[in-house]
Amino acid sequence: MATRNIVKVGDDILRKKSRPVEKFDKRLWQLLDDMKETMYLANGVGLAAVQVGVLRRVVVLDCSQDRSDYLELINPEIIDTEGEQREQEGCLSLPGECGITLRPAVVRVKAQDRDGNWCVYKGEGLKARCFCHEIDHLDGILFTDREIKDVSEIQNETGSGQ
Ligand code: NI
Repeated sequence: MATRNIVKVGDDILRKKSRPVEKFDKRLWQLLDDMKETMYLANGVGLAAVQVGVLRRVVVLDCSQDRSDYLELINPEIIDTEGEQREQEGCLSLPGECGITLRPAVVRVKAQDRDGNWCVYKGEGLKARCFCHEIDHLDGILFTDREIKDVSEIQNETGSGQ
């Protein structure tokens, strides 16, 4: 395994659409292993291949506190969502920036594993946000595109009863 450099905002590649993975070979496994190491080293909860300069539909993530929920998503697609949440989000490609976004509260994703088998994953809370955030990366979308800038909207929705 080796770490790779994380592409930062301002690089046009972050705005490009990633292509589906067709070959589940050693080259893909090397990419996945490198992405895993890069994400953990950067203390991230998720990383998309485009963030290491590879325009393929590949995501790694681990939203657990103790780094025990590592997942690899290849060619992921959101198949179902429930509810909504407005929470803070950041991105390894936008160091030091964060903002509130509107995301579904629960997300189900269909994706292939490193051998090409299709699996379904369910995420709630942070994991649901992470699924959406990383899949957005594959389509050239950054969290700042979805940021809620109207403070009154945030307070009205999440500050009820306070
Ligand atoms: Ni990101």
